[in-house]
Amino acid sequence: MSISLTPDFEKKLDEAITHYPVSKRSAALPLLHLWQEQFGYISDEAIEFIAKKLEVQSIHILELVTFYPMFRREPIGKHHIKVCRTLSCALGGAHEAHACMKKLTGAQGDDHGPCTSPDGKYTVEYVECLASCGTAPVMMINEEFYENVNSEEKAKELLKKYQ
Ligand code: FES
Repeated sequence: MSISLTPDFEKKLDEAITHYPVSKRSAALPLLHLWQEQFGYISDEAIEFIAKKLEVQSIHILELVTFYPMFRREPIGKHHIKVCRTLSCALGGAHEAHACMKKLTGAQGDDHGPCTSPDGKYTVEYVECLASCGTAPVMMINEEFYENVNSEEKAKELLKKYQ
């Protein structure tokens, strides 16, 4: 395994571990979050690295990554479009909004997981409630939040900001 981390990032990981003096293993989730924040996804190398650092077997880290849906195993596109599909949004047009974003960005793949455009520019994905149920359908693009995305015109307008 050849993985090279910046000293700052490794320091961040080590610091997170100090919050769990009783059992290093409890730092697994915080470390996975830090890793995903830094690299965008959790690779096989990441799993091995974190397991080694926490002195556990890789399978214990892999089971966390596969259990929690917020962890990604594949890289995502430059712009991440997260469409809420929980009840209010589902009733308010989430599926149409998701399909529209896929069409406009060229994102491909099964709707059960992240769909990425061949140029790597966009990933469209369903997420659960984004806590703005009264303005359905809602979505996030990267860290920005958008409400009432209920027409292709509106979706096109939003995408202009993310080229
Ligand atoms: S159901 Fe979509 S924001 Fe709550």
